[in-house]
Amino acid sequence: MKPFLFVTDLDDTLVYRTVGDDSALPELNQLLKRHRQEYGTKIVYSTGRSPVLYKELQAQKNLLQPDALVLSVGTEIYLNGTDTQDSDWAEILSPGWEREAILSVTEKYHDLVRQPDSEQRPFKVSFFLKQKASANVLPQLEAELQKYKLNVKLIYSSDIDLDIVPRTSDKGQAMQFLRQKWKFAAEQTVVCGDSGNDIALFAVGNERGIIVGNARKELLQWHNEYPADYRYLAKGFCAGGIIEGLHYFGLL
Ligand code: GLC
Ligand code: MG
Repeated sequence: MKPFLFVTDLDDTLVYRTVGDDSALPELNQLLKRHRQEYGTKIVYSTGRSPVLYKELQAQKNLLQPDALVLSVGTEIYLNGTDTQDSDWAEILSPGWEREAILSVTEKYHDLVRQPDSEQRPFKVSFFLKQKASANVLPQLEAELQKYKLNVKLIYSSDIDLDIVPRTSDKGQAMQFLRQKWKFAAEQTVVCGDSGNDIALFAVGNERGIIVGNARKELLQWHNEYPADYRYLAKGFCAGGIIEGLHYFGLL
């Protein structure tokens, strides 16, 4: 067996955000742990959560110690359990990132409701935006931010979360950074997700992709529009769907 790079979203991909059946998680954890020990497989958790909310989930669920943790929708990378952000990644994100300039644009939009302070991060500004208003607000906001030539990208997920991040960052680009650092081929890399902020993971290259059976409509729509034979839509939900996908790609 060859080592592979395993990159997974957390909420509603590896584990259920609220209530759900996490019974396949111990089996997946066991399979991944063994693969890491025997073949040098690397495990990466990639989430929209900040460090504070990641720690909260860690206290609730049975998570492994990952080889890298990608937080705040790809804008922060922590290697080998350290508490310090990888500085090479931060250097890639900082040119042209102007938080204050972004905030002076966003404050004019009353549909944008600031997320809690813990979710405002060095390279991420986040709001709640209701789905009804999003069709109007998103194009306008994007055009305005572009007018000022700000280095930003908008990521809208789950019909409610709006993240504004540097153009050079998202979960996909963070994954590529790690893949190149650790020298994994795209065929030996697998990414797993369920919602809008995971599209970047699937879209960035031709890594193997597992969409869990409980995926949200924005990801399913995108998958139907851009189908690819290196992407698998699982029947199983969460960890159960991931195990199914890992077998499908012959990685286990
Ligand atoms: C997590 C983060 C939130 C973000 C969302 C989508 O819920 O806490 O800030 O907007 O993921 O990326
Ligand atoms: Mg998710």
